[in-house]
Amino acid sequence: MKSLAILILLCLSIQMFVCKNETFDRNQRILRELAETQETCLYVLLDAGSSSTKIRLYKSVCRRSSQIPQLEALPIPKDKDNKDVFPDKIIVNKDAVALTEVDLNETAFTDHFNIAFKIISDMKQFYKFDVKPFLFLRATAGLRQVPQQQQEQILNLVRTVFRKQDSFYFLDDSWVKVITGEEEGLFLWLSVNYAYQHIKHSNNQQFDIQKTVAVIDIGGASAQTAFYNTLNNKLIDLPEKTRIQIYSNTTLGYGNDRIIASILESTQTASCFQKTDGFIGKVFNKNTKLEVDVTGNYDFVKCTNALLSIMKITDCSYTEFNSEFNCSKSSIQQKLTGQKQIIGASSIFYAKSDLFKKLGKQGDTFKLKEFREQVKDFCSEGLTQQSYQKKQFTTCLQMMWVSTFLIDGLGLLNDEVTAISKYNNYNIDWSLGSLIYDINTLQCDYLDMNQCIDQITITDASNINKDGQTNNVFNNSLIINFSLLILVIANLLI
Ligand SMILES: *[C@@H]1O[C@H](CO)[C@@H](O)[C@H](O)[C@H]1NC(C)=O
Ligand SMILES: *[C@@H]1O[C@H](CO)[C@@H](O)[C@H](O)[C@H]1NC(C)=O
Ligand SMILES: *[C@@H]1O[C@H](CO)[C@@H](O)[C@H](O)[C@H]1NC(C)=O
Ligand SMILES: *[C@@H]1O[C@H](CO)[C@@H](O)[C@H](O)[C@H]1NC(C)=O
Ligand SMILES: *[C@@H]1O[C@H](CO)[C@@H](O)[C@H](O)[C@H]1NC(C)=O
Ligand SMILES: *[C@@H]1O[C@H](CO)[C@@H](O)[C@H](O)[C@H]1NC(C)=O
Repeated sequence: MKSLAILILLCLSIQMFVCKNETFDRNQRILRELAETQETCLYVLLDAGSSSTKIRLYKSVCRRSSQIPQLEALPIPKDKDNKDVFPDKIIVNKDAVALTEVDLNETAFTDHFNIAFKIISDMKQFYKFDVKPFLFLRATAGLRQVPQQQQEQILNLVRTVFRKQDSFYFLDDSWVKVITGEEEGLFLWLSVNYAYQHIKHSNNQQFDIQKTVAVIDIGGASAQTAFYNTLNNKLIDLPEKTRIQIYSNTTLGYGNDRIIASILESTQTASCFQKTDGFIGKVFNKNTKLEVDVTGNYDFVKCTNALLSIMKITDCSYTEFNSEFNCSKSSIQQKLTGQKQIIGASSIFYAKSDLFKKLGKQGDTFKLKEFREQVKDFCSEGLTQQSYQKKQFTTCLQMMWVSTFLIDGLGLLNDEVTAISKYNNYNIDWSLGSLIYDINTLQCDYLDMNQCIDQITITDASNINKDGQTNNVFNNSLIINFSLLILVIANLLI
């Protein structure tokens, strides 16, 4: 009996030895040291989208415990004409380059990211922070679309380049990864509600879900919506046992670039335009890399119907423009009606800005009913060679897609939307939410470890059992208790 107990003890210690993880120990040491010796931690998040890789820099107090971090955005500095001193994305020869367009070799990837590293280094100098930032890269729809093998190749090249950087902490390969469309929506929701201070660094007990804002994002390749809804498909657990029910959805192909491509490629292209007057131009289709002949001006009604058919709305169409009419009954999208406030990002912001500039209007918030009428007027102006060169073609299509997607797709005819690109210095994109989540996970994984009760977790509502328990297969504290139990028994036996 005694020998058995010794055997068990021996096994346990061997297991402990085997389990010792050098990487883990190193990372833990680094994080502990930082929390003890350094006031400010810097975080870089590279957002690899379908048309560009954006650079985001945040700072926070270095922490030892798992809490929602107090992240502060460090925006791109401006000169005296209020122009950005550096670009906020990776620009090569005046053009934004998406990660999927970079040659698949290490030299090309190194050159590509050196552009971002230089900008970060300049920003550190500007803000006078001489500390090593943590480096994350999150990729979205652009990378989700490429074949799995190519995706892995790209991610591994990024990791190889990042590992060789002395001026950044890149501690784990999982810091470079592709996020899902639903995560993109959820992280944007977290970002915006954090920027609006509905979700805070502390005191989540006073969190009020009814005050949270809904988000709609029309990106380059896909469009996302995320909002509080009892028909949830995601559950977010915030610290202090605050569980939130969120509906988050994404549709590939509903991003602005892809909509323009769909219109240019479909046989309905012609129906987007009147063929009456003399304008003829060529529009470059980025998707097929082909030029498409465009004749005549926009026909608002026909073009709206073409957009409806992209949304698979076939049993409802416009015969003439009627500001009270909408086709949202036929839409398969989850409607956003009844939300307290709706924030629109990316293309929604650009469309609003272009329209308001034309109208000489100020402000961020617009009623969709009015917006659509103004877009109709904007788009009925003849396309001239000059306006064509100023990209009025794509501007107009972007506005029409925003109004059609929001009114006919999401049922927002009688609602208003606030379209912004920044709030409280934070960029209105998913990067902030993603970092909040990652930093909290990092603290739980390395610093708080087994007693971490404040982890932010995201759960698919479909993974919840009837009794409300999550199907979490792995439970650290159970394993530790089990090991303790064996140790106690073994001791008794000796
Ligand atoms: C060691 O720890 C690192 C970081 O936590 C982790 O990614 C890796 O999978 C671990 N390795 C083993 C063998 O457990
Ligand atoms: C890597 O890509 C660059 C283009 O950035 C190209 O000039 C070079 O020949 C490529 N190198 C290899 C080894 O394929
Ligand atoms: C997301 O929206 C699409 C329609 O674009 C729908 O078919 C799908 O079921 C939705 N997903 C969820 C999880 O609701
Ligand atoms: C949209 O149109 C439907 C009829 O198809 C109507 O019942 C509904 O009230 C309209 N929605 C709004 C917000 O006006
Ligand atoms: C592990 O089990 C403990 C006690 O049953 C529970 O409080 C904790 O939430 C569980 N952790 C996870 C990650 O499921
Ligand atoms: C582990 O043991 C502690 C203290 O005995 C107890 O509070 C906790 O619930 C246990 N966890 C599990 C998962 O049984």
